[in-house]
Amino acid sequence: MKYLVTSIKGGVGKSSIGLNLAMRTGSQYITNDITPPAIEDVIQIPINKKKIPADLAQLENAVFDLGALSTLLDPKIAHAASFCDVIIIPTRTDARSVAATLKTYELLQDAGKPIVIIINHFTDERKRDTARDRLWSALGRIPIFSMKNTTLFDRVSADGIDWYLNVLNIWALHTLHKTIHKHNDIYDRITAIGGRG
Ligand SMILES: Nc1ncnc2c1ncn2[C@@H]1O[C@H](COP(=O)(O)OP(=O)(O)OP(=O)(O)O)[C@@H](O)[C@H]1O
Ligand SMILES: [Mg+2]
Repeated sequence: MKYLVTSIKGGVGKSSIGLNLAMRTGSQYITNDITPPAIEDVIQIPINKKKIPADLAQLENAVFDLGALSTLLDPKIAHAASFCDVIIIPTRTDARSVAATLKTYELLQDAGKPIVIIINHFTDERKRDTARDRLWSALGRIPIFSMKNTTLFDRVSADGIDWYLNVLNIWALHTLHKTIHKHNDIYDRITAIGGRG
């Protein structure tokens, strides 16, 4: 299964979601981010490459975390969209993020792949609902998931895969444990939408 996590907007959680999704699904994590998460098993694609290298495009299980380069859509994004099974656009709830999410959706629609949106990194559920209503009214009832503000992402980025695996066994971290299950449930549902669940 191949996943594309992308947005023309920076800082919406592409790398956090991409990395956690890769861990959940046992996929290779690949990014064009020049400051990728501090784990060992990251493949970075240099920004000057126009296409995803063939050996990476052919991987059976991969998560491509591809940010846009300022106002320019990285041509690797369209390339990855052509061979990925599902496209994930993370967004925050503010109006600019929602507008960027709609633009990203429009740019990727032609690939003909299932597109899901994750409303990420919010504390106020009313703001989540407002963002979701705006997206649904513009795009129709596409799948939209939500992930609240959580310390999980920062800690995974800081401590890497070992911490993520260990925390599953630490009952004292019950809240985080619950968060991980909520996130994993979203990743599993997205995998099903991509057709391999
Ligand atoms: N649900 C969340 N709860 C708390 N913090 C979050 C959440 N999602 C993302 N963050 C934090 O927000 C920051 C930006 O997230 P991240 O780096 O994943 O975004 P990005 O879209 O990959 O950014 P960039 O465009 O710079 O590559 C990070 O510090 C990350 O830890
Ligand atoms: Mg990133």
